[in-house]
Amino acid sequence: MSKQSSYFECLNCSYQTLKWIGCCPECNQWNTLDQISTFKTTKQSVGIQSKLNIHTLNEISMEEQQRIVSQCHEWDRVMGGGIVPGSFLLISGDPGIGKSTLLLQISTQLSEKHAIIYFSSEESLTQVKLRFQRIATQTPKNLFFSDHATLNGVIEICKQKKPTLVIIDSIQNVINDTTNALPGTISQLKESAFMLMKLAKENSIAIIATGHITKEGNIAGPKLLEHMVDGVFYLQKEDQWQTRTLRAIKNRFGSINEIGFFHMKGNGLQEVQNINQHLLEQTKNAPGSTLVSSLEGSRPIFLELQALTVPVKFGIPQRIITGIDHKHVSLIAAILEKYLHIPLSKHDIFFKISGGLKTKDQTCDLGIALAILSSYFQQPLPDKTIALAEISLTGQIKPVYNIDIHAKECTTFGFKQLIIAKDQVINHKEIQVKRINTVHELLIFFPADQV
Ligand code: TYD
Ligand code: MG
Repeated sequence: MSKQSSYFECLNCSYQTLKWIGCCPECNQWNTLDQISTFKTTKQSVGIQSKLNIHTLNEISMEEQQRIVSQCHEWDRVMGGGIVPGSFLLISGDPGIGKSTLLLQISTQLSEKHAIIYFSSEESLTQVKLRFQRIATQTPKNLFFSDHATLNGVIEICKQKKPTLVIIDSIQNVINDTTNALPGTISQLKESAFMLMKLAKENSIAIIATGHITKEGNIAGPKLLEHMVDGVFYLQKEDQWQTRTLRAIKNRFGSINEIGFFHMKGNGLQEVQNINQHLLEQTKNAPGSTLVSSLEGSRPIFLELQALTVPVKFGIPQRIITGIDHKHVSLIAAILEKYLHIPLSKHDIFFKISGGLKTKDQTCDLGIALAILSSYFQQPLPDKTIALAEISLTGQIKPVYNIDIHAKECTTFGFKQLIIAKDQVINHKEIQVKRINTVHELLIFFPADQV
């Protein structure tokens, strides 16, 4: 049993109202409200439907779902071990960051074993071919291109060709000709995402769409778009050496915060095979520098924290901090001032992570404290040493999780010593450890005449 009703939706911002109004109260646009008819289903028919569609776990058949694996380890790592067939993923990033280049490279690699269709609604096919000539030499047979931009056209082609993977570059440029909304508006995006998700699930076609981000860094369109897809990945530029990172923000089939590292070269994006080796090559033991290990997804990454403390010339002391929450560094500076009586409130503190990388990992607390002290006393820390602990507001050094993963990676890269909390349980015995109980004990790393 169903009953027809209608409401009005803004074509620009998706604002909904039961009554027609001339100016949308949400986005202040005139004449953008469109009438939409719906069918209300009565409780009785919902009851009948749900009875028909319930199953126990044993009744659900599970076909072996082989992930679509490429030859690019960094890509596969971020995807959670390869793309899951039938998943709908979104890759986002600033214009010109390399989204199209990365997807073209991955499609070229995967097309050796799978049929792939690349819908380039943003660029002409000639432009795509020009890019292709920069990144590959051999023309793949199973990779098809189309500049079809209408949603129905895309769905029709996919249903006929039944490819394993479809690339939509970009979702903002897909036009849904069945609605009156303009391309790129929120209602068009919602509709396109819903239809593409349906296409992916019903036909077991993996779909990767690119999406623009706004100046504020959000995917242009509603947050809802992020909720509708199986995975959201951000391609970002991390530093001055053209390094690009692909980070999993949401992944229904893998862990979040997993990062893949790539270098933008003249022939496309090249994966950085051993990122820790690459990062350590850039570091040098000096006053104000500490090495920490930060867990990004499932991989420990070595970060060089750099601090510079300078006595204040006039006014309020400055805190210029990048790569880590500035409040966190200020908090650690306050703890050091309180318990070690070091007048950091009379010093400017400049703080960064080498290479322009970023972290939110609490395991870096001890490293931050040591970097500040090392700069303050102008004394370098012992060579080949990694600091791994949290610091509490009471000045206690606290244990961290997953220490064995960090310790194993440190041994692989020839580190001699770990500075850890007194209560830290560690099973990995191949590395020397220095146990610290409170921040007072940090002064042992700096010669007595300096302290
Ligand atoms: P592109 O993939 O078009 O970015 P997006 O799709 O995110 O907008 O990348 C464009 C940039 O990448 C452009 O500045 C040129 C550069 N680039 C290279 O440096 N090397 C290459 O091999 C390619 C294909 C692009
Ligand atoms: Mg592009």
